[in-house]
Amino acid sequence: MAIMQPTMIETPALSLPQRLKAATAEQHRRVERSGVMATLLRGRIERLAYLALLRNLHALYAALEPALSRQAAHPAVGPVVVPELFRRDALESDLRALQREADPPAEVLRPATVAYVERLREIEATQPELLVAHAYVRYLGDLSGGQQLRRIVRRALALQGAAGTCFYDFGDTSQVSRLAQGFRAALDEVGARAHDAGAIVAEAEGAFARHGQIFEQLAAAG
Ligand code: HEM
Repeated sequence: MAIMQPTMIETPALSLPQRLKAATAEQHRRVERSGVMATLLRGRIERLAYLALLRNLHALYAALEPALSRQAAHPAVGPVVVPELFRRDALESDLRALQREADPPAEVLRPATVAYVERLREIEATQPELLVAHAYVRYLGDLSGGQQLRRIVRRALALQGAAGTCFYDFGDTSQVSRLAQGFRAALDEVGARAHDAGAIVAEAEGAFARHGQIFEQLAAAG
């Protein structure tokens, strides 16, 4: 008599982009509503507060992007080094467009921003593949929620045309989705090559927490 074998239900392992999304979904909900982000989402942000946010983000990209470029030959980092996504120049152009001569001296970077930049230096020196986590948090964020933020910022600061919102500009919607799809495919490749994909997921969770701190400190600084 034939013996029935129990059916094995195969649960395919999650890919790296799926793991990143699942692990940070709850934090995303919290961070997008924390500190200065909450003010921004309500459309209530004032120009000087927005400039302070951009200056802190600029410090972050100015540390992240050269580090990514330096690590472009690293097999587990190279796939996510996409200069088309780089935001540093766009942020500099927005800062120039939004600053006025009569403005009070620019505020210093928030302590959480300084710590973030230090963390980027540390991982580049010790575990460069963790830079992938920061590229994920920034660039997929900019390609997703960033696109809604552009409309909000334009309205809140009564901006005309593209001046002041280059940060969010990756081209039209088809280019935005091409870049997002390409970035997810790059994360898949990283997942296949990374020495420790779990550490990249943990670093992304840490990156969200650090963003939350930056946004809270910016709100507290007014
Ligand atoms: C403040 C307003 C924000 C809004 C309205 C917003 C909204 C969104 C939306 C609608 C998505 C697409 C979700 C999907 O495709 O299923 C998304 C994805 C994402 N956002 Fe945000 N977001 C905001 C802030 C942030 C911030 C501050 C960060 C980073 C610190 C961030 C990081 C991300 C990431 C990494 C993704 C990609 C998730 C994935 O598909 O793996 N977002 N966001």
